[in-house]
Amino acid sequence: MFHDRKILYSGMQATGNLTIGNYLGALKNWNSLNEEYDCLFGVMDLHSLTVRQNPAEFRQRARSLYTLYVASGLDPEKNCIYFQSHVSGHAELAWILDCFTYMGELNRMTQFKDKSAKHADNINAGLYTYPVLMAADILLYQSDVVPVGVDQKQHLEITRDIAGRFNGIYGDVFTIPEPYIGRQGAHVMSLQNPEKKMSKSDENPNASVYLLDDTDTIIRKFKRAVTDSDTQVRYAPEEKPGISNLIEIYAAAENKTFEEVEKEFEGKGYGDFKLAVGEAVASMLKPMQEKYKELSKEKSYIDSRIKENDEKAQYMADKTLRKVQKKVGLTERIR
Ligand code: TYM
Repeated sequence: MFHDRKILYSGMQATGNLTIGNYLGALKNWNSLNEEYDCLFGVMDLHSLTVRQNPAEFRQRARSLYTLYVASGLDPEKNCIYFQSHVSGHAELAWILDCFTYMGELNRMTQFKDKSAKHADNINAGLYTYPVLMAADILLYQSDVVPVGVDQKQHLEITRDIAGRFNGIYGDVFTIPEPYIGRQGAHVMSLQNPEKKMSKSDENPNASVYLLDDTDTIIRKFKRAVTDSDTQVRYAPEEKPGISNLIEIYAAAENKTFEEVEKEFEGKGYGDFKLAVGEAVASMLKPMQEKYKELSKEKSYIDSRIKENDEKAQYMADKTLRKVQKKVGLTERIR
């Protein structure tokens, strides 16, 4: 399956329904970089356990996430698309890396601060060490590049710091990964509060456009998007965060620059613009939605891809894990 190209690694949590933030910030770039790299894409189900999950719904959502990756255009015969929890090395490497990570570093993580504020009744140790598990995900496969949205940048930085520290002690064990953050769509904001990022877990369904929303719902959500009292379609994130977010989404969906978008809507009102954004997003999502419907019926095809890719990922992960175990001085297995 792999061709000795550089390794690309990424993944998403199986928490909530995917939004166009996940698509424009990550999935779209995964698809565009796909041919250049040997790629692994994980369904990050261990990460989802930091929040209480309903087991039956969670299982179904993780499977649906796998299917969405494939429906977006990622071929599971060319890319290693697998479940994080099926490869034991993630948790094993995370423990070792925990011992090379300082509490001071974890205390600085903004996502930990945000999530603890949101789930004040369940600030568990998993939430705190979450970035170390993410570092293990990436380092386990000797990844060169990690395409993510802006919100994950800090986690990539700590991954690089942990890897550098480990290599400093034991020699070149880990490849130091580079983040890949797209020029557009890397920071999609909520449609109801453009100061906040669009999130799978937002309680207001009008704040996010989900990848499986139908065309009417998408258009309605964009029509209701919070903007300002001006009338000019102009990119100015500080002054006009709502409209700037819509420009960003439209530019990413249509592969246009912000200037091209401003020009296209010169002299037109917000109503026309919002409708155009809704239509552009609906047509961007349509092929993936159709493919998703088809694939949902092909249970045995998906099952066999999961099995094959889990094994491949396990094999790759084991190679790094054995090396790390040896370097830190754990006793080797007797064969
Ligand atoms: P997650 O599941 O929150 O998001 C998945 C991807 O979508 C991007 N993203 C966004 N991009 C632009 N605008 C938004 N509003 C937006 N919301 C989400 C995220 O940046 C991410 O790229 N910790 C990770 C999952 C993970 C991971 C990894 C990623 C676990 N291990 C290893 C890469 C490599 C997370 O919670 O992403």
